[in-house]
Amino acid sequence: MPLEKMFVSDARDAAHVGKTVLIQGWIRTRRDSKGGFSFLEINDGSCMGNIQVIADADLANYKDEIQRLSAGCSVAIEGEVKASEGKQATEIQASQVTVLGWADDFPLQKKRHSFEKLREWAHIRARSNTFGAVARVRNQICQSIHQFFHENNFLYVHTPIITASDCEGAGEMFKVTTLDLDRLAMSGGPVNYEFDFFDKPSFLTVSGQLEAETYATALGRVYTFGPTFRAENSNTSRHLSEFWMIEPEAAFFDLADDMALAESFLRKILSDVLNHCDEDLQFFDQRIQKGLIESLRKVAETPFQHMTYTDAIKVLENCGESFEFPIAWGTDLQAEHERYLTEKHVAGPLILTDYPSTIKPFYMRLSDDRKTVAAMDVLVPGVGEIIGGSQREERLDVLTQRMAEMDLREEDYWWYLDLRRYGTVPHAGFGLGLERLVQYTTGMANIRDVIPFPRTPGNAEF
Ligand code: 4AD
Repeated sequence: MPLEKMFVSDARDAAHVGKTVLIQGWIRTRRDSKGGFSFLEINDGSCMGNIQVIADADLANYKDEIQRLSAGCSVAIEGEVKASEGKQATEIQASQVTVLGWADDFPLQKKRHSFEKLREWAHIRARSNTFGAVARVRNQICQSIHQFFHENNFLYVHTPIITASDCEGAGEMFKVTTLDLDRLAMSGGPVNYEFDFFDKPSFLTVSGQLEAETYATALGRVYTFGPTFRAENSNTSRHLSEFWMIEPEAAFFDLADDMALAESFLRKILSDVLNHCDEDLQFFDQRIQKGLIESLRKVAETPFQHMTYTDAIKVLENCGESFEFPIAWGTDLQAEHERYLTEKHVAGPLILTDYPSTIKPFYMRLSDDRKTVAAMDVLVPGVGEIIGGSQREERLDVLTQRMAEMDLREEDYWWYLDLRRYGTVPHAGFGLGLERLVQYTTGMANIRDVIPFPRTPGNAEF
């Protein structure tokens, strides 16, 4: 009978003592003892910790192979799980060590490498403690997202990746074309998109919101969760050119409902991570951001603070800080302003509402003062904005007027306007940037280190 395959996470559990198992993974370290045996530390990604394997000198391949094992080699270990006398609960006494792959000159040696260096080795950085932990926390967050929406009657819809409409109206889109750019450049003539694949200019989506609205106004509550793209030349620690966004959209929701949803959503995710990723969070707490667990716990338990944009401007004007970007009513908040508000002013998550209409996209609902829109952003310490959302403009006449003011052509959004023509309803939604949330929950300083293969200006390796 073949042996039971066991993950390292299970083999480290004392409940399995006495079982004979098969462990498959990668060597982290090898240490030879004077007593004539070797300690192998094996990791298989199932958890942060390794399992210690004891390989005795009487194993047939001890001299030829086991004593040549080094970090990065892949192995299959057969042996018995035993209670350990060391600080770990269990260890494995090997009866057979099979080398599957050697790893001469493996770059991830014991010495610590900078995160910048590890980005150059993105294909192997997942084998380090930090990136393994990030991957597990990211996975837990994604599971919790689907579970939260499922439990709250939100239907998962898939919105397109290729689109012809610029949801955010900021013109930061990557063009999708099959036209021969080299030939076009030589011809010098204007581009005729009728010859292009989709017969019109098409782009990678910046947001699935507009399409999600079509399903929300049929099915009530929906969410989309997919890759989004921004051709913005931002080289910051919180911008990616390709990132994952979660966008719920709900009919019969106003701004207050939307904010309540965002808050319970974030709380559920944080408490799931706290409950299921303890070992990884301990690592981040010790190595990356001291006090992380305590601050996440506090956020998971305390109601978020709220403030209008207008009040936030007053706070910023009177706080005595010297900011790089000047602040005045009507200007967009920069990261430094958001971070001051959330880190110093409230020291926790903050929901900012009622932004000037001039700095927000066309689809946000115009308020009675006709100067602000029913928008909300959720800001968190360390990262700044992680959620942007709003109640949507459901009144056809107001919406078309806003579009005209922003030079958007009605014919480009005819289907979006139809939602206001046929049984329009109040509705609202928001977008959460997955990577910013992973940054927040792990304390990782740079967004490039919380997605497996970051895309930023000038970088599309791997
Ligand atoms: O505020 P944004 O641009 O909102 C929208 O796209 C709306 N259509 C969402 C909606 O209402 N359905 O983006 C939403 C979130 C931001 O709060 C931020 O967390 C993240 O997406 N985000 C980015 N994350 C990484 N890199 C970038 N370049 C990002 N731009 C936005």
